[in-house]
Amino acid sequence: MVAIAIDGPAGAGKSTIARALAQELDYIYVDTGALYRAIGLYATAHEAQLDSPQQVGCLLPDIKLDLRQIEGIQHVFMNGYDVSEEIRQPEISMAASKVSALPEVRQFLFALQQNLAMENNVVMDGRDIGTVVLPAAQVKIFLTATPEERARRRYRELCEKGMQVDYDQLLAEVKQRDHNDATRAIAPLKQAADAVLVDTTEDTLEQAVQRIVQIVKEKLQDVL
Ligand code: DC
Repeated sequence: MVAIAIDGPAGAGKSTIARALAQELDYIYVDTGALYRAIGLYATAHEAQLDSPQQVGCLLPDIKLDLRQIEGIQHVFMNGYDVSEEIRQPEISMAASKVSALPEVRQFLFALQQNLAMENNVVMDGRDIGTVVLPAAQVKIFLTATPEERARRRYRELCEKGMQVDYDQLLAEVKQRDHNDATRAIAPLKQAADAVLVDTTEDTLEQAVQRIVQIVKEKLQDVL
């Protein structure tokens, strides 16, 4: 099986790029952030303290997660319900960031992610895919962009969905989430030693997609 790991901070373009890449190569796209979001949603709905290993940990056995591809789009099912839309709410972004710092949560999701890569050719995006989940991935990309550009992208995305958002608040959230994700003790956001660093600040998403498809195809020629 072939695995392509795409890591980087929120808003660097990972999901758009990973999805396009998966389509181009006919691989399965796995958005691992959606799994952390689902747990953040469940813990929020159950009023658990999001940084409490006990409170969140004891909910985990009740959570059954399933990723299904419907017409080429990843849907997340939690206990039989499609939560793909709900997990995109801004407060769930922060909840996901908080629960993702818990070792119990990371361990819970580890096997699920590895099994997907054992059974399919995957383009998997997240924070620790190249470093922890799939350290033997044939191609690793670390995507980045400035916090301001990433907040602008998130702003446009949420406005297009008709949501009321404040740019300064989004920027503060981007920075807070970067800080949480990069400084947590377990599996922090960091570039794998053998990952290719791609800064998308100056690119449109289409340009970034083209650049990365090119890089990945060249790398795959070398390794396959
Ligand atoms: O990619 P995203 O914004 O949907 O991810 C939501 C949160 O989940 C993010 O703040 C950090 C966490 N996450 C993680 O810790 N490890 C991953 N592989 C993917 C996401």
